[in-house]
Amino acid sequence: MKLEGKVALVTGSSQGIGQAIAIRLASEGADIIIDYRSHTEGAEETRSKVEAAGRKGLIVKADLGVVNDVRQMITEGVQHFGKIDILVNNAGIEKNASFWDVTEADYDAVLNVNLKGVFFATQALVKHLMDTKRTGKIINISSVHEELPFPHFTSYCASKGGVKMMMRNLAVELGPLGITINNVAPGAIETPINTKLLNDPEKLSALKKNIPLSRLGQPEDVAAMVAFLASSDADYVTGTTFFVDGGLLWNYQEQ
Ligand code: BGC
Repeated sequence: MKLEGKVALVTGSSQGIGQAIAIRLASEGADIIIDYRSHTEGAEETRSKVEAAGRKGLIVKADLGVVNDVRQMITEGVQHFGKIDILVNNAGIEKNASFWDVTEADYDAVLNVNLKGVFFATQALVKHLMDTKRTGKIINISSVHEELPFPHFTSYCASKGGVKMMMRNLAVELGPLGITINNVAPGAIETPINTKLLNDPEKLSALKKNIPLSRLGQPEDVAAMVAFLASSDADYVTGTTFFVDGGLLWNYQEQ
């Protein structure tokens, strides 16, 4: 067990990749702060799986797009467990629309959760680490789309590209404090964010042809990389993006 005695906060851990990360970090020995926005049952399911792994789970409701919620989430976690060592900025949303149809409300929703929320959750954690004079680890769940265009998802790509540069910048600024920050960039993973795609056999088989490993990823594939980055095995790793995408990013084939 690599995370014994650690406390990890995983945003958006009531489902999908976040839930798998919460369970995996618990199985490595960490107590878990389970953040969710609306899926109460999912958060409870995560907590029972964390407890089944022998660890403690605290459920906190927060809308990552609202800075006060974000700060409150960190405060509640610290009050309950006494500290936080690991922050996994996982919560994210996407909206499908042609560029010319994107509304201000949808743009704000995506950027607020995917970029502003990550920024201020990280800031709140860093202040806590500085106050308690401790080091820590920050892991952002980004996307292959921090690099790769995704037509009709321009706000999503802008948010993920933003998270990439935020991570690189903070690696430099937080390094002297002993705080590491890295991105994990999933490709196509079987999760609720992809429900539409998963129910479209034609699109799904076209997508699989673009993935060298010929399958969609599982949330556990992403969680395994997060467990490594959260552990002391990754103490000298900061400022980098790790792609967990079955080779999707680099697969261009002329038809
Ligand atoms: C998106 C998915 C998409 C995948 C691969 C992810 O970041 O959330 O909707 O299928 O990238 O393109």
